[in-house]
Amino acid sequence: MEKILLKNIDKPDSQDIETYISGGGYKALEKALSMKPEDIIAEVKKSKLIGRGGAGFPTGLKWEFTRKEKGEPKYVVCNADEGEPGTFKDRVILNKDPHLLLESIIICGYAVGAEKGFIYIRGEYFEEINTLKKAIEQAKAKKMLGENILGSDFSFDIQIFKGAGAYVCGEETSLFESMGGGRATSREKPPFPTQFGVYGKPTVINNVETLSNVPSIILNGGDWYSQIGSPDSPGPKLFCLSGHVNKPGVYELPLGTSLKELVETYGGGVKGRFKAVLPGGVSSSFLDTLDVKLDYKSVMEAGSMLGSAAVIIMNSDTDMVNVCKNIMEFFAHESCGHCVPCREGTRRAREIFALFANGEGKAEYLDTLLDLKDTMYDTSRCGLGQAALNAGASAVKLFRDEFTKRIKK
Ligand SMILES: Cc1cc2nc3c(=O)[nH]c(=O)nc-3n(C[C@H](O)[C@H](O)[C@H](O)COP(=O)(O)O)c2cc1C
Ligand code: SF4
Repeated sequence: MEKILLKNIDKPDSQDIETYISGGGYKALEKALSMKPEDIIAEVKKSKLIGRGGAGFPTGLKWEFTRKEKGEPKYVVCNADEGEPGTFKDRVILNKDPHLLLESIIICGYAVGAEKGFIYIRGEYFEEINTLKKAIEQAKAKKMLGENILGSDFSFDIQIFKGAGAYVCGEETSLFESMGGGRATSREKPPFPTQFGVYGKPTVINNVETLSNVPSIILNGGDWYSQIGSPDSPGPKLFCLSGHVNKPGVYELPLGTSLKELVETYGGGVKGRFKAVLPGGVSSSFLDTLDVKLDYKSVMEAGSMLGSAAVIIMNSDTDMVNVCKNIMEFFAHESCGHCVPCREGTRRAREIFALFANGEGKAEYLDTLLDLKDTMYDTSRCGLGQAALNAGASAVKLFRDEFTKRIKK
């Protein structure tokens, strides 16, 4: 497949606006400004683009809801927090093709009726922050950003907002709280961000990769885009391949590509013998097969989720008990503590996995873990708590003997 998202990244000076323009960059913005905002939204809806940040919500619908909201002003927030362990795809666009992202955010702002956009970026992404700052200056100098963009009556500004350093800050409502100067903790939904987002105003929040699809949709049409890859969730996808593979990295492939092809053809095969995979980072459930298509529906039908497509491979030398212990240490540390099931559940699960790792586990603890997973899924307020035990519970189901053999007789 011809690359759409990563097509510019190997060009020398790919960050420079001149390189971007010479490859057809900002043509989509020019075209978008000649269209009615409603027609842009219609194209995005037709494309069937769904969010690449993890939740998989239809992008066109989100834009339409925001456009239709009465409240003013409206905002666009680009989620560049990239906090899910194993996810390192957005940084490629941020660092190598910042104008692709800027062009996308500006088009989104025009479509939904916003005059200001924010890029909420992970604080540790120093290089990416500098790249974006330079790109914003260049775009302003070329009248692609700022007052009366390209001579039109549309004005739009973009501000960079450095993340507050916690995993939960990537969750959209916690992110808004942290931008407002509050503690990063999730809000009840509804109201949804399209109604009550950053500073309490209607907001479109989209992931870096989601937005970066927009220029090609505007230039080629939603129908063209909807033909790429899987019919249910079309388009290209950036897969972050890591763990026990020979060639880890970020690979752009159509949604619906098989996991086996990603690992064997692109990732150079498994280092050792394959044992398990987390297809959507540590928030997803383990699968013990490579025979699955990488699209949202197929991965869910196989018993896991694609999430942000952080594909982590584990070989037969991997100690699943220790993996679960590490994952739970992460979640217990990152729980914001606001709701009891997540705050107490992540700690209890961490404790149980540590007991098994130390050879002090008991058979009944495994049932406790499975119960805890259901309770946390049903009662936690945000996705962090809801998904925290996915990996752990699936490991207990798929690799139960690794836990039971550590129980003292
Ligand atoms: C704990 C947690 C962390 C998240 N971290 C991120 C993140 O780093 N980047 C991101 O784009 N979305 C993240 N999300 C998903 C966002 O809440 C939201 O769904 C997304 O930004 C919407 O954009 P999209 O529709 O383009 O996917 C996270 C969700 C949860 C529950
Ligand atoms: S689920 Fe966890 S991270 Fe989310 S609000 Fe509750 S305590 Fe905080």
